[in-house]
Amino acid sequence: MTPHATLKLENKDHSLPVIVGTEGEKALDIRNLRNESGFITYDEGYGNTGSCQSAVTFIDGEAGVLRYRGYPIEQLAEHSSFIETAYLIVNGELPTPAQRKRFSQLLTENAPIHSSMEHLFEGFPVDAHPMAILSAMLNSLGCYYPHLATNDHARDLETYPETAAIIISKVRTIAAYSFRASRGLPYIYPRRDLPYCENFLHLMFSTPYEPYIALPEVAQALNLFLLLHADHEQNCSTSTVRMVASSGANLFASAAAGVCALWGPLHGGANMAVIEMLKSIHAEGDDGTKFIEQAKVGKADTRLMGFGHRVYKHYDPRAKIIKESFYSALASLRIKDDPLLNIAMRLEEAALKDDYFLSRKLYPNVDFYSGLIMRAIGIPENMFTVMFAIGRMPGWIANWREVAANPKGRIYRPRQIYTGKTTRDYVPPHKR
Ligand code: CMC
Repeated sequence: MTPHATLKLENKDHSLPVIVGTEGEKALDIRNLRNESGFITYDEGYGNTGSCQSAVTFIDGEAGVLRYRGYPIEQLAEHSSFIETAYLIVNGELPTPAQRKRFSQLLTENAPIHSSMEHLFEGFPVDAHPMAILSAMLNSLGCYYPHLATNDHARDLETYPETAAIIISKVRTIAAYSFRASRGLPYIYPRRDLPYCENFLHLMFSTPYEPYIALPEVAQALNLFLLLHADHEQNCSTSTVRMVASSGANLFASAAAGVCALWGPLHGGANMAVIEMLKSIHAEGDDGTKFIEQAKVGKADTRLMGFGHRVYKHYDPRAKIIKESFYSALASLRIKDDPLLNIAMRLEEAALKDDYFLSRKLYPNVDFYSGLIMRAIGIPENMFTVMFAIGRMPGWIANWREVAANPKGRIYRPRQIYTGKTTRDYVPPHKR
């Protein structure tokens, strides 16, 4: 028998079914509560709201656990690659060798963009932010594949493997072209012989007269960065993708919306904000000691960026992995004595001893190190969040599919508690 909880409201008992997930997570099913009682639940910021049932990613924020499709992030980081992990997330299982080969072929075939799309980049001002370009271009991409972007979920699901491969492959080309457009550099074509990360670095940094050859450690650091960002359950951007998908929108449009949500400094923009914070601490001649004190005032504009997380109340497991790989990338790039790195180390050490951060369970998150990694491998700062978006694409795609394939799916439509004026009569302009 399904367990139930009883909620007493205005002297009436309401029975709420209890839903239990495969990892023992418990939820009260309140879907009928308003119909039965007139009450809604109030949870601004959705910190205590389960918006869906999902089989993609599991996080235990208290224990610092992250698993994609059941596989611990530590095992994937050690043994897998971004592309194999992307396949896992998008399709639910690790690929067989034949499936892996076919997926790689699909990615290779789909790396170039339609030549008329190149002209779209020229329509942006040269200083346009690459996240704005990326979002606009992903939405435009759907126009080149109307048969894959029908806004009829049943039809769009039939072509899901092809659409997923197109987006995962082309997002990298679009991202690199947005960077080249902003620098006035000519577009470079993707190469068929290069793996995913090496090809991205080639698209970014090769010139018509000199190919860019990526150091293996650099390609490996990028691979790990993308893998660690591949999904993170119902965060702001993934919830946005699901919200847009719930209206019946196609995968291109839903992913474009995810990019917009990711852009903000509290989400994907945090990796860039960390570097800006470190630079401004350095410019002020502080070694981090003064800044830490300001961060404790709790104001939004002096927060210690790269610290804290809505879900992790312990060390973010991705931060641990990325920190280790960061040191090996630095060693192979022979980077020593970076002043920003020294400040970052000091901030981390001080925060991890400070009662303000400990009592609020504020630990380094993945972005504390990811910006430093991007910087070390030569990615320009305004591309940091774009890199996050490339990594997060498999997660958005898999979440879109869950929404599109849900036979009982309904449009996402939260309620509100209205706090505005009560009814009043229209005042004509001459009487205002
Ligand atoms: N520095 C200083 N104080 C902080 C910080 C911080 N980074 N983060 C939270 N606090 C304080 C906050 O002022 C509040 O204090 P009090 O209880 O005295 O009012 C308390 O900690 C709880 O904060 P909150 O705003 O209720 O926490 P939240 O769950 O709403 O926010 C967060 C989570 C990630 C937005 C926030 O910790 C933050 O702004 N961190 C800095 C930005 C950042 O690094 N974002 C990247 C997140 S990881 C990437 C991703 O998965 O998207």
